[in-house]
Amino acid sequence: MGPRARHTFYGVAVTRAASFAPVDVVARTLRVELAAARSRRGGAAPRVLDVGGGSGTWAVPLAAEGCEVTVVDSSANALAVLHSRAREAGVDAGVRAIQGDVDALADAVDTEADLVLGHGLLEYVDDPAEACRAMAGAAAPGGAVSLLVAGRFAAVLSRVVAGRLTEARQVLVDPHGRWGEGDPLRRRMDVEEIRTLVEAGGQLTVERVQGHRVLADLVPDGVLEPGGASSDPLAELEDIAAGTPPLRDMASRLHVLARRPG
Ligand SMILES: C[S@@+](CC[C@H](N)C(=O)[O-])C[C@H]1O[C@@H](n2cnc3c(N)ncnc32)[C@H](O)[C@@H]1O
Repeated sequence: MGPRARHTFYGVAVTRAASFAPVDVVARTLRVELAAARSRRGGAAPRVLDVGGGSGTWAVPLAAEGCEVTVVDSSANALAVLHSRAREAGVDAGVRAIQGDVDALADAVDTEADLVLGHGLLEYVDDPAEACRAMAGAAAPGGAVSLLVAGRFAAVLSRVVAGRLTEARQVLVDPHGRWGEGDPLRRRMDVEEIRTLVEAGGQLTVERVQGHRVLADLVPDGVLEPGGASSDPLAELEDIAAGTPPLRDMASRLHVLARRPG
């Protein structure tokens, strides 16, 4: 297993692998999607549009895996960081950065994408339904839209273990899953909310809803049994838990893969 960094989850000190693989089910889902896109395109590089791609958390590794990535983000600062990360990784030729808003996505990009990412975006936009419509419109026929959004129930649990019961109650009952006026997120969602939102525009069909790092972040330091060379028990467990309600539903982030009909 790669280097791990300390952090807390549900208030418990735990560790996190510095790289996504192999525990990250979202990264693995995207790899399958991109392999299919490459095959549809006769071996040509898959075209990825990363909306709200920020400093390149997803864009840079995807470019390193041979995708042509366009990042549209409203923040000039984030795009400056993206440029330097892409340069450091030696993939700047594979990453195009455009400063723009998801509300005007059609004006910002001139090509269709095989895969459109909206990771950590819907929590911030004015109108999430409009953002989903814009991302769906940017996907090629048969292409996919991948969304990662903050989960409501994980936020309830993390506040309970921190003793912040008023906030926990508010996240649970608030129509947008916010804990109060000071909440930096404009919304959190549960599985039904995100599914309904994505399909409401009529352009996309949800193919998969899974939890992102449902259990991996809960494993305390030093307790993992050493795995064999050919298996990673945590990755295998995470794979199952990611799609198993109610564990899935309590993930800190929910992942949706939706498709535009071909
Ligand atoms: C939480 S970061 C997510 C970054 C990255 N996608 C990730 O998963 O690590 C949210 C990003 O969305 C961008 N953003 C927020 N509102 C936006 C909008 N209306 N249009 C385009 N980008 C937006 C922000 O500038 C920021 O870079």
